Amino acid sequence: MLTIFMEEEDKEDNRIERFVKNKQVKKIFNDVFDKATLDTIFSLARKKYFDEVEFVIATGKEGNVFRCKSGDNYYALKIYKIETSDFKHMMDYIAGDDRFKDVQKNKFNIIEAWTKKEFRNLEEFTKAKIRVPLPIAFKRNCLVMEFIGEDGEAAKRAKYAPFRNMQEKYELMCDYMARMVARKVVHADLSEYNILNNNEEMVIIDVGQGVSTIHPKAGEFFERDIRNLAKWFSKYGVETNYEKMYADIKAKK
Ligand SMILES: Nc1ncnc2c1ncn2[C@@H]1O[C@H](COP(=O)(O)OP(=O)(O)OP(=O)(O)O)[C@@H](O)[C@H]1O
Ligand SMILES: [Mg+2]
Repeated sequence: MLTIFMEEEDKEDNRIERFVKNKQVKKIFNDVFDKATLDTIFSLARKKYFDEVEFVIATGKEGNVFRCKSGDNYYALKIYKIETSDFKHMMDYIAGDDRFKDVQKNKFNIIEAWTKKEFRNLEEFTKAKIRVPLPIAFKRNCLVMEFIGEDGEAAKRAKYAPFRNMQEKYELMCDYMARMVARKVVHADLSEYNILNNNEEMVIIDVGQGVSTIHPKAGEFFERDIRNLAKWFSKYGVETNYEKMYADIKAKK
């Protein structure tokens, strides 16, 4: 047991060298991530989900998203930061969710439940035929999913790359939202910031805060999602507003 443990420890210094070539990623690995997070990343690497963490796609207050490579395939690796995440905010979204009723209120458990929730929501959305990144694996605070992009270049957020045919995407979004309701999930942070334009394919991301429709605030979150989207679509000439979009979603059911 001790020998195995020593071997793992010995490998710690060179595992960053082995799986990371990019200087910026190395710096994040050395300066930002705690040991438990590094252990988690490298255990996913050992399981062959990826063989290199290549570069940062996005850094945020609560997490970082990296492009990873496994052979010729790319994946997106989302890592929630344990120290800086807003736990009180997260607890609000976990609290009313039946699937996570046993989560103890400590930082680590909350982050772990959050990651699992994002993974499960990706599964739910995929089953409901709502286009999201395909979930691949998760462990503790790390999530591996399909990389959304072309020729290795990450797709842009719809906020900065609106679709050519916004009317068509509006109809599709109403359809997706009706499917969410039918599946009893609310995204709860839908806006042009969490939609990717993948060469005119609309992909919804960032589903960690998604709640079940029995969550006490599900109605409020659903209304907020519709308001955000109706405002954005109408900016691009789609004739809609909150009331119209609500009715259009209902009509899809
Ligand atoms: N599967 C993916 N493929 C390609 N890019 C992705 C993927 N997932 C996330 N991204 C990129 O990473 C960014 C952050 O991801 P996400 O929104 O899931 O995380 P977040 O921590 O909630 O960030 P934010 O606070 O900015 O919303 C996205 O805006 C997108 O540009
Ligand atoms: Mg986001």
